[in-house]
Order: sequence, then structure tokens, then C-alpha cells
Amino acid sequence: MKKSALTLLFVAASLGAATADDTVKEAMKKYFKPEGALAKKAGTKGGATADELAELLKCYEALAKAKPSKGDDASWAAKTGALIEGVKKAQKDPADVGDLKKATNCKTCHDVHKGK
Ligand code: HEC
Repeated sequence: MKKSALTLLFVAASLGAATADDTVKEAMKKYFKPEGALAKKAGTKGGATADELAELLKCYEALAKAKPSKGDDASWAAKTGALIEGVKKAQKDPADVGDLKKATNCKTCHDVHKGK
């Protein structure tokens, strides 16, 4: 009885981790990596439409809830929070993309949070 409860817990924990990782990977492949990726486009003045910004905001909110393969939670929360705030600024003023562009810096985030 005790043993099966522990096994269940273990399965639940590893499933949770796999799902979160996939969220980050899928977001990278869809929104960051491609030529003319939305994440990069949104960091240029008027680069993204209102619909695209709304979509990107959803992506960043999902990222904030996901867990990266490396790095601590506080740093991840700060980085994904900056992405969310950046999109919200661009939604208010399409020319106000400086913070969003800064938050989208691939290397700054990968150095701390991207596993091997
Ligand atoms: C807020 C943090 C963050 C930012 C900003 C970021 N990335 Fe990532 N990226 C990650 C993490 C974390 C991973 C590792 C995924 C994991 O946890 O397994 C990753 C992985 C990737 C991968 C590999 C995906 C795969 O299939 O495994 C690519 C490609 C990538 N990023 C491209 C980019 C590009 C291009 C940019 C900049 C335009 C960027 N990323 C900006 C956090 C970030």
C-alpha cells in the first residue's frame, strides 16, 4: 500500500516535469527559433499586430508557469515576467518595444536556464 502510493507520486512528478519542459521547447520552436519568429518581430517597432501580441502574451504566460531544465525559480520568474511586461507595454504603445527586445535576449536566458 505504502509502496504503490510512493510509485504513484513518482510517476506524477516525472510526468509534470516532462510536460513543463515540452512547453519551453515548443515555445522556442514556434515563437523564437524560426526565421522572422514572432518573439523577434515583436521586439521591433510596430513589428507585431495586436492579434500577434495577444498570442505572444499567452505563450509567455505559459512559459512563466513552465519549468526550465536549469537555473533557479526566482531567475526564471524574473525573466519570463520581463517578457510578459514587455508585451503589455507594446500592446499599449506599439513603439514602446525597448524592454521587450531586451527581455527577448536569447543568450542571457540560455546561459542561465538552457540545459545541455
Ligand atoms: C526566458 C528565457 C529564454 C529566452 C529569452 C530564449 N530562450 Fe530559447 N530556450 C530557453 C530554455 C530554458 C531552453 C531549454 C528548453 C528546456 O528546458 O529543455 C531553450 C531552448 C531553445 C531551443 C532548443 C529547443 C529544443 O527543441 O530543444 C532553441 C532553438 C531556442 N531556445 C531558441 C531561442 C532563440 C532564437 C531565442 C532568442 C530570439 C531564445 N531561444 C530566447 C529559454 C529562453
